[in-house]
Amino acid sequence: MATIKDNATILEILTSLSKQRGFVFQSSEIYGGLGSTWDYGPLGVELKRNIKNEWWQFMITSRDNVVGMDAAILMHPDVWKASGHVENFHDPLIDNKVSKKRYRVDHLLEEQNDDIINNLLNTLNIKSAEDKIVSIVSSLIKNQADSGNIMQKSEVIDPHTKEVGEWTNVRQFNLMFKTNIGPVDDSSSIAYLRPETAQGIFVNFQNVQATSRQKLPFGIAQIGKAFRNEITTGNFIFRTREFEQMEMEFFCKPDSTKEWLKFWCDERMKWFESLGINKEKLRLRAHGDDELAHYSSACYDIEYKFDFGWSELEGIADRGTFDLDQHMGASNKKLTYFDQVNNEHLVPAVVEASAGVDRALLTILADAFTQEEVNGESRTVLKLSPKIAPIKVAVFPLMNKNNMPEISQKIVDDIRNSGIASFYDAGGSIGKRYRRQDEAGTPFGITVDHDTLEDNTVTLRDRDTMEQERISIDKIIDVLKTKL
Ligand code: GAP
Repeated sequence: MATIKDNATILEILTSLSKQRGFVFQSSEIYGGLGSTWDYGPLGVELKRNIKNEWWQFMITSRDNVVGMDAAILMHPDVWKASGHVENFHDPLIDNKVSKKRYRVDHLLEEQNDDIINNLLNTLNIKSAEDKIVSIVSSLIKNQADSGNIMQKSEVIDPHTKEVGEWTNVRQFNLMFKTNIGPVDDSSSIAYLRPETAQGIFVNFQNVQATSRQKLPFGIAQIGKAFRNEITTGNFIFRTREFEQMEMEFFCKPDSTKEWLKFWCDERMKWFESLGINKEKLRLRAHGDDELAHYSSACYDIEYKFDFGWSELEGIADRGTFDLDQHMGASNKKLTYFDQVNNEHLVPAVVEASAGVDRALLTILADAFTQEEVNGESRTVLKLSPKIAPIKVAVFPLMNKNNMPEISQKIVDDIRNSGIASFYDAGGSIGKRYRRQDEAGTPFGITVDHDTLEDNTVTLRDRDTMEQERISIDKIIDVLKTKL
């Protein structure tokens, strides 16, 4: 069973449980690990696949106006110039010359008290701000040459030393990972690992529209890896340097983006709720003007209330015609749409829904994690929705004799062959075996016992209520299918 120290945060608990049960391991662990990269184990990869399948079903398979694609991770470097990522995809950094600690400025400011934030607002002459930290950061960047001084005069504390820092000026750090294509390592061979999957969709707009014969409004969606050289990482798999995105770009008439933004915000909230996540811990938050990315004129975040605060799971943004305009300008290729009704060529606008797979998975684990008392003992259980649980049913012989293992193995084989993920476990007491599956989030357990030998029935245990019912062996698959 997972052992949990007192006062551990939910993320510490999940990190430990994930390792013990085989959801997520630290990457390159035997070499001491690599910062903020994680590997998914047997249960983690199944959970991740189930999340992605749910997304694909919800966004693509169930709709006739959204199609899928899968672009390469490496793209022509000019893509990232046109998209604005070479120029704008930065994080503001600052160092304390004394402690040699480096911080992302917004994260550093989040740790300061109200007096220090007010000092900064006064020094920077910021009268009113929807989000004080965002406004301070953008003002520090505008006053870059004097920014270290301003931080020092405002008495910004280094959380490491707990004293006012001797701050360098703020500088912008580009988050894209660079690599080289071919044998020559010079500026002509530079390529980037994509920081978002979206650009693969924009540059293929014509190819996909022409071959799928979609008419406006329609969406193009994909799931794939993205890479960002994040400065401050942490919170387990919440912010990592390599992660997966599930993105959809919805192309529509430029005067209809407001309506589609609302539509996709509602749809995307429904999707998170459909995974069994507690509605009370989900919210939609509009970005203030000073938070908007360089390409976006309006944006909403879907956020979850983690124990480290409300945090973004997905961004839904009005990107207007920015991306197609930029790529048309830079490539000299037409990325327009011919509207047959009005007999005109137009550049479609885009509403984007961009979610992180790893964040969705972390949310699902955090939300499902439950510790309860059962008969005076503590029980850890992941109350995962059956449709995304990595294993749907575990089968146990009560004893390793009297033909019970053989009957159990045959049941597991039949369940597997019907397409339901199942697991055979004959090791340890039946109580221990139930607890292991509770921690793995397996919604159902089947036990072959003495009565089975008499009447061909088994017990079916429900993970959450722990209630057991007797069902006949030949009804198992039908019963499971109705429950899943
Ligand atoms: N195409 C738009 C875009 O990439 P974003 O808000 O930068 O927008 C979208 O990223 C989503 O991708 C986020 O809501 C988050 O779920 C996920 N994401 C972004 N950076 C991440 C990171 N470093 N680690 C894990 N997930 C990340």
